Amino acid sequence: MGQEAVLLLSNLLLLLAASHNLLAVSFPEDVMPLDVVDAHFTRRYPVFRGRPSVNDSQHRLDFQLMTKIQDTLFIAGRDQVYLVSLRESYRNEIISYRKLTWRSGQGDREMCAVKGKHRDECHNFIKVLVPRNDDLVFICGTNGFNPMCRYYRLDNLEFDGEEINGLARCPFDSKQTNVALFAEGKLYSATVADFQASDSVIYRSMGDGSALRTIKYDSKWLKEPHFLHAAEYGNYVYFFYREIAVEHSNLGKVVYSRVARICKNDVGGSQRVLEKHWTSFVKARLNCSVPGESFFYFDVLQSITDIIDINGVPSVVGVFTTQMNSIPGSAVCAFSMTDVEKVFMGRFKEQKTPDSVWTPFPEEKLPKPRPGSCAGHGPAASFKSSVEFPDDTLQFIKSHPLMDTAVPSTGDEPWFTKTRVRYRLTALAVDSQAGPHKNYTVVFIGAESGVVLKVLVKTSLVSLNDSLLLEEIDVFNKAK
Ligand SMILES: *[C@@H]1O[C@H](CO)[C@@H](O)[C@H](O)[C@H]1NC(C)=O
Ligand SMILES: *[C@@H]1O[C@H](CO)[C@@H](O)[C@H](O)[C@H]1NC(C)=O
Ligand SMILES: *[C@@H]1O[C@H](CO)[C@@H](O)[C@H](O)[C@H]1NC(C)=O
Ligand SMILES: *[C@@H]1O[C@H](CO)[C@@H](O)[C@H](O)[C@H]1NC(C)=O
Repeated sequence: MGQEAVLLLSNLLLLLAASHNLLAVSFPEDVMPLDVVDAHFTRRYPVFRGRPSVNDSQHRLDFQLMTKIQDTLFIAGRDQVYLVSLRESYRNEIISYRKLTWRSGQGDREMCAVKGKHRDECHNFIKVLVPRNDDLVFICGTNGFNPMCRYYRLDNLEFDGEEINGLARCPFDSKQTNVALFAEGKLYSATVADFQASDSVIYRSMGDGSALRTIKYDSKWLKEPHFLHAAEYGNYVYFFYREIAVEHSNLGKVVYSRVARICKNDVGGSQRVLEKHWTSFVKARLNCSVPGESFFYFDVLQSITDIIDINGVPSVVGVFTTQMNSIPGSAVCAFSMTDVEKVFMGRFKEQKTPDSVWTPFPEEKLPKPRPGSCAGHGPAASFKSSVEFPDDTLQFIKSHPLMDTAVPSTGDEPWFTKTRVRYRLTALAVDSQAGPHKNYTVVFIGAESGVVLKVLVKTSLVSLNDSLLLEEIDVFNKAK
């Protein structure tokens, strides 16, 4: 970390010298990095390969996810979870100090083959790994297309209790993306809940009360979603994902990025409407675009941070790309949670007839209490529980989960764009307390080509829009 700080400091000095030139450069030109670190140098960075120094051609990590719990990094792959201490420093190899092995059951592997899957797909790919409390971690795997979950003790990694069905908590196929999190003792999971991967669901289970879900096969609620993140914030759980845009009127499939919100105290609708379904599911588009004469949208969310404080403003930072079938282009945009909530208090979108364009729903015609509210709070303060909501409020949310306005990005433009290269940026991590005084925000952005960009964001309170590309690091090592 000390070395990092020195590096940052020297880069800041360069910044002072170079900032005048950089300000003159504007979209769509790409800024040049101040420094380039080539693969020759990064070859010396320590790597993690799962099983260290064993010449085992059978071994494949098949990386699925990574979660930090206390000072340990849990790296989950195929049939294994590796524990790596973050207190150690590593020279050539990053070595796990512990490993948990959980293979698909014999019968599950056989059934998987009977269902026509290749042997390589019938492993137990670990897709969920979330701490339940200080003692237990909840882990689910695909288990040969028959998803299963278990609790493991954090102290000794022993399997604790029985196997729990992974349906609607974990995908069947390792290629599906999913997210999961515990909030107030309940598991929120977003995944596909069937073998064919056609039943997309945001689901809540465990804890007391009956399980709740999104409406099955309703494209207004979810349409081929690709879930990326879930976060608990205030009275809500938020989901960040991309999906096929139902509101897009032109021919062809277009992907939009979304933020969706659910009340933690939602207990479902009445026996007449939305029983055992969310009464508070609302969603909005995320607007990551470059303004100007030739408007340009980056609509495909690839990766997004947790809700973090940026200048005291709770925000998320995401990396977005252009549509997958168009020319590559990427942008980093930030969104404040205040702006997200403002959109959810705004107008809803509606489609009057199946073929007509989507228009804003007139505010004065909205039923009361306002659809999407949490019982006992705000506009629904006089309702004890969502079961008591009147039919017209429930009917409304059932058919109008989409908000009319898109959430604007902070400063109304991206922090950073990359549009003149052939690769897309697909991963991101943010250090909002970088530098010797912990008052700089540095974003690390990974590309599918194996390049990592290190970008300094100038977070003055006035504008967040200009940033500085500090380093371009080539981490792709052909030898490894
Ligand atoms: C490791 O694997 C490589 C490639 O398969 C082989 O050439 C080499 O001899 C092996 N080394 C040992 C120590 O088994
Ligand atoms: C997205 O943001 C830009 C810049 O503020 C704005 O001009 C544009 O209308 C927004 N698009 C949508 C769909 O809201
Ligand atoms: C960070 O803190 C240092 C020391 O207080 C100050 O000189 C510098 O201007 C600050 N930078 C930003 C971006 O706030
Ligand atoms: C950043 O935004 C401010 C105000 O929104 C604007 O005046 C300024 O020109 C922008 N800077 C860049 C580099 O686009």
